[in-house]
Formats: sequence, structure tokens, C-alpha cells
Amino acid sequence: AIDPQFNENREKVGEENGVAVWGPVDEPEELGIRGTHVAVDFDLCLADGACLEDCPVDVFEWVDTPGHPESERKAEPTNEAQCIDCMLCVDVCPVDAIDVDAG
Ligand code: SF4
Ligand code: F3S
Repeated sequence: AIDPQFNENREKVGEENGVAVWGPVDEPEELGIRGTHVAVDFDLCLADGACLEDCPVDVFEWVDTPGHPESERKAEPTNEAQCIDCMLCVDVCPVDAIDVDAG
């Protein structure tokens, strides 16, 4: 599962499409965590898609990640500012790749 303390245990190494990238990153095999309020561990995400289908405010968008061992696309929390903290995405992700900091 995603480390809920990722913002303390990892370093922010950049931004992509307006969301933070938390390392380590070694493309294409290791992609780190994307997002802060809504965070997706790209190294766990296997492109199930439940988060995209279920999020009531369309926080997630697909991004292509060719060459990643788990899946060749990932759910990026591009619109994390719209999140209403319903926690649906956290509940439906089969690999617990998503953390929402509702505190
Ligand atoms: Fe969307 Fe709810 Fe997840 Fe926020 S907590 S990203 S609103 S499904
Ligand atoms: Fe990925 Fe989980 Fe969404 S596997 S596509 S973050 S439901």
C-alpha cells in the first residue's frame, strides 16, 4: 500500500501536469508518487481504473507510462484541488495505491 507518510519519507523531485512528483524516480521502471492532497503511488497502480470511474468530481486522468512493469498507464490526480474528501477512490483501489489527506 501507499505510504501515508510519503511527504515525510520521500523527497519532492519535481512536478508533472501541475502535481508534485515524490521520488525516487528512475524512468521508466520507477515513477514514484504523484500528487499531494490526493496521492497515487505510480509504482503500485496497475491501471484498474476504478478511481477514474468512481470519483464524483473527476480528479483523475490517465497518463501513459510505457515500460513500467505494473501497467502502461496510470491514474494521475491532475485535478486534486477539486477533491471533496469522499474517500471513494481510497476504498475502491484494489492495490491501495491512493492516499487522500482528509485531515
Ligand atoms: Fe475523488 Fe473522493 Fe478520491 Fe477526492 S476522495 S479524489 S473526491 S474519489
Ligand atoms: Fe490505479 Fe488504483 Fe486507480 S490501480 S487506476 S490508482 S483504482
